[in-house]
Amino acid sequence: MKRIAVLASGRGSNFQAVIDSIERGEVPAECCGLITDNPAAYAIKRAEKAGIPVYIVDFSSYPSKEAYETDLMAAMARCKADLVILAGYMRIVGTDIVKAFSGRIINIHPALLPSFPGLHAQKQAIDYGVKVSGCTVHFVDEHMDNGPIIIQAAVPVLEGDDEETLAERILVQEHRCLPEAVRLFCRDRLRIEDRRVRIL
Ligand code: GRF
Repeated sequence: MKRIAVLASGRGSNFQAVIDSIERGEVPAECCGLITDNPAAYAIKRAEKAGIPVYIVDFSSYPSKEAYETDLMAAMARCKADLVILAGYMRIVGTDIVKAFSGRIINIHPALLPSFPGLHAQKQAIDYGVKVSGCTVHFVDEHMDNGPIIIQAAVPVLEGDDEETLAERILVQEHRCLPEAVRLFCRDRLRIEDRRVRIL
């Protein structure tokens, strides 16, 4: 049984999708901690409801990003996680953490990477005028929204869409893709070969 830790900054609907898939018996894992940089994150309530330990590392109470990341790393180490999931974690993870957890951190991004990395990916897609967007689950490397891709799903961008309607359509796919990627990881079915992730 693999141990999973989740980093989330806000609503936590992707975190919930992972909790639900574990509870349904689809993912052979135990969620050993929710770590958040935001004491007001709704994800905390979801963790409490599911009996998952919560680690609050309040970014705003630290004098520097370095000091914050030291405690973040300590919380991650305390979880003893085999896999760390960035599920709506709104900060860039520092290189020390990426190195320490290399091949064991995944992120969900609401666009078809390499298109539209960074913040407001759904708005970027609308503004650019693409007809198709989607979501990407990928391993995290030292560059933002850049590591080897595990799963993607596409959705149409419809006439009259705005940022919210597109985000909603993409979110449905996020809630499907993230647990699926976690399931594959937990069953040891992912192999990273350079930029490519092979699904065994
Ligand atoms: C999702 O769209 C995720 O892809 C992005 O931030 C959003 C978080 O949503 N990184 P939630 O907190 O999981 O509900």
